Amino acid sequence: MTTNVLTLSAYEFYINGEWKESQSGQTIDIKSPYLYEVIGRVQAITKEEVDEAIYFAREAQKDWAETSLQDRAKYLYKWADELIDMQDELAEIIMKEVGKSYKDAKNEVARTADFIRYTIEEALHMHGESMRGDSFPGGSQSKIAIIQRVPLGVVLAIPPFNYPVNLAAAKVAPALMAGNAVIFKPATQGAISGTKMVEALHRAELPKGLVNLVTGRGSVIGDYLVEHKGIDMISFTGGTNTGLHLAKKATMVPLVLELGGKDPGIVREDADLYEAAKHIISGAFSYSGQRCTAIKRVLVHEKVADELVGILKEEVEKLSVGSPENGNTVVPLIDEQSADFVQILIADAIGKGAAVITGNKREHNLIYPTLLDYVTEEMRVAWEEPFGPVLPIIRVSSDEEAIKIANESEFGLQASIFTKDINKAFVMADKIETGSVQINGRTERGPDHFPFIGVKGSGMGAQGIRKSLESMTREKVTVLNIGE
Ligand code: G3P
Repeated sequence: MTTNVLTLSAYEFYINGEWKESQSGQTIDIKSPYLYEVIGRVQAITKEEVDEAIYFAREAQKDWAETSLQDRAKYLYKWADELIDMQDELAEIIMKEVGKSYKDAKNEVARTADFIRYTIEEALHMHGESMRGDSFPGGSQSKIAIIQRVPLGVVLAIPPFNYPVNLAAAKVAPALMAGNAVIFKPATQGAISGTKMVEALHRAELPKGLVNLVTGRGSVIGDYLVEHKGIDMISFTGGTNTGLHLAKKATMVPLVLELGGKDPGIVREDADLYEAAKHIISGAFSYSGQRCTAIKRVLVHEKVADELVGILKEEVEKLSVGSPENGNTVVPLIDEQSADFVQILIADAIGKGAAVITGNKREHNLIYPTLLDYVTEEMRVAWEEPFGPVLPIIRVSSDEEAIKIANESEFGLQASIFTKDINKAFVMADKIETGSVQINGRTERGPDHFPFIGVKGSGMGAQGIRKSLESMTREKVTVLNIGE
């Protein structure tokens, strides 16, 4: 399937309910990671256009904050319906733009509609609280604090390339239900999918100015957006380095950052190895490991390591590899540079004595699924996040050693423990420094109403539907002093 370069679309940005070309006269080419050709262009907007977008967002938010939850819900339900109506078109674009299989891209759109609907329902059922004054020593019954959640203002939403629709909506939907306006800056690779998602909002007749789509070069508008005085909250998902940079630039606004990970799959000697292998393979290799929650290292007890490696080898070799258009699990990485990085990690490990069990083959940016055994703490792949289909096996001699290596990571997103001893699993889970621990399951974000938390280099704050609604509001206290 190819796109004729001569008929390429130049997608417009979206500001105050209108689609526009940038005054810059410049566009950014979006190249498909597997078609190896430009599939569209997005506007490279100017700082002045960012100012305008934020101005309109601030204006629109004032009225939106006054609308009832039921009215907000109507627009968002319509948005979810529009996304489902566009599901095939969106899936095609996601597939071409970020190289995700068509089936996974379709699932991403369905998951997004579900996410939006659940967000609406959660927001409709969130309540404030009240406190009596006399619960504190010397306080009086005549004082009552009424605590409500109010919007923050304008939320800057920056999702990553790997879920260009789902992780965008996971920020936009709670922001809107909470009464905020949004400046949505998609990842450049993912900007066409993001534009289409906004098209669905436009069709849902969301009041103008509430969601503004800004596309452009990070070097021109990235820091400018983050430091802008008109932004009241930033919700970012992406790489740890970018997140760190953003946290240094942002001043006095709440941040929710969901960053990288190095999720370990810990396999105890009592684990059901076939079950563990099934979860590890799907956790490590789906979408070529381009998920922050991918299993990125296995810490296996040495007594069962040979057997596990044997099962993993067999399963890895069954994985389908190739174009996302044929539904393959392992697909070309998002760009050549990403593939280079994975290859550097593999070469470093081999140079230091790791054994290649299978894989270590590359065609352009397609890296074949690679299993590395006898990985040690001296190797970069033991600690660094490849965001690609390479899985290092580290052999350990005890639970304590597994926990120690798990915790020595700079990251702290999730971990999996595979064992038949559920009590032991809980004891270990308590000691692992991550936002979540999965017992006998792969690391993953969903279901999307579960809190999703990264600690250490994996982020700050929490997502998950209720948590996102909370993070995009603040508490406002009104104290009623009842006269005698
Ligand atoms: O990489 C983004 C992260 O949110 C992954 O989500 O659903 O693949 O676990 P999921």
